[in-house]
Amino acid sequence: MIIRTAEFVKSSAALKQCPESRLPEYAFIGRSNVGKSSLINMVVGRNKLAQVSSTPGKTRLINHFIINGEWHIVDLPGYGYAKISKSSREEFKHMIMDYISKREQLMLIFVLIDSRLEPQKIDLQFIEQLGELQAPFALVFTKTDKLSKTKLEANITHYKEVLSESWEELPAIFLESSVTGAGRQEILNYIDEINLTV
Ligand code: GTP
Ligand code: MG
Repeated sequence: MIIRTAEFVKSSAALKQCPESRLPEYAFIGRSNVGKSSLINMVVGRNKLAQVSSTPGKTRLINHFIINGEWHIVDLPGYGYAKISKSSREEFKHMIMDYISKREQLMLIFVLIDSRLEPQKIDLQFIEQLGELQAPFALVFTKTDKLSKTKLEANITHYKEVLSESWEELPAIFLESSVTGAGRQEILNYIDEINLTV
């Protein structure tokens, strides 16, 4: 897929404020600081489309971007950010789950996982919740430039083993780095294939 245009549409604090358009959309989510905004910028080839923060937890809204005038990328707030109150965390969680369970044009959720880390409970729990909602998702392992190929392969193999304990079939898996551009074409092609079915 060639990205001709990529524009910010709007930030929404709740599902009911999201764009009314029926275009297919693809959401990106993961722990705060996992590299969502960097990934979105890398995938669309625009440096400053999504905000890249050095302060974790900055993206607290549902952010819609329109690509080629044909489909939406959605940057969702990071989960599991410790430095916010319990009530605002619950509020975010409600907003995200409401969006995921009710947004009909949501085709796929890319769940971002830091490729350097052992499987984290918070990510596994989130994936579990997606399963309960029967929401289609894929996994993107981020920041792969930060570890050796051997270590990366070992981590992915281990992750798959852990997932296999609760899933019969594994989701699509992408290895990504916003620094090297790894995973870009794979992610875009995957989106392209789904768009063709709409
Ligand atoms: P929040 O919106 O705050 O939840 O964060 P985010 O998930 O959008 O992460 P963001 O893209 O802002 O990146 C967080 C930090 O990780 C930044 O300092 C990025 O420069 C860095 N980073 C993101 N992706 C990569 C990557 O692929 N490789 C390396 N080396 N650093 C990365
Ligand atoms: Mg962000």
